[in-house]
Amino acid sequence: ATTRYEAEQAACDGTIDSNHAGFSGTGFCNAANAVGSGVTFTVNAASAGAATLTFRHANGGTAGRPADIVVNGSTTQAAGAFDPTGAWTTWVSKSVTANLNAGSNTVRLSPTTANGLANIDYLEVTDGGSPQTGRQ
Ligand code: GCU
Ligand code: CA
Repeated sequence: ATTRYEAEQAACDGTIDSNHAGFSGTGFCNAANAVGSGVTFTVNAASAGAATLTFRHANGGTAGRPADIVVNGSTTQAAGAFDPTGAWTTWVSKSVTANLNAGSNTVRLSPTTANGLANIDYLEVTDGGSPQTGRQ
């Protein structure tokens, strides 16, 4: 199953803005532009195992806005690229795979350059579980 976690419900190290159209929900996270100034989502997984994390972002700047992807306090992908999208109103999705615990997890994007984070619209989590079939 896929669950969407809106950035406006997450812990954003900045402001929830709505001035660049095309976002989902009521806004997006505009984190302050600094190393380590990011956003933390609290997400739930039905079972432990691999999940797909899909981040929707916009980067109207001219430089990439790399960010570590930190799951439950451990960096699972160092400096994942959040490349320029051409405009702050052009939103694109980026997916990575990470292991989640059953139950509650934290997923943080932590930027590694002084430009800070791209604007973040949401995180979608697709857990690896498929429906059980056959004899129970
Ligand atoms: C502009 C833009 C913001 C963005 C910021 C940035 O101010 O309006 O949405 O977050 O640039 O460069 O981070
Ligand atoms: Ca910003």
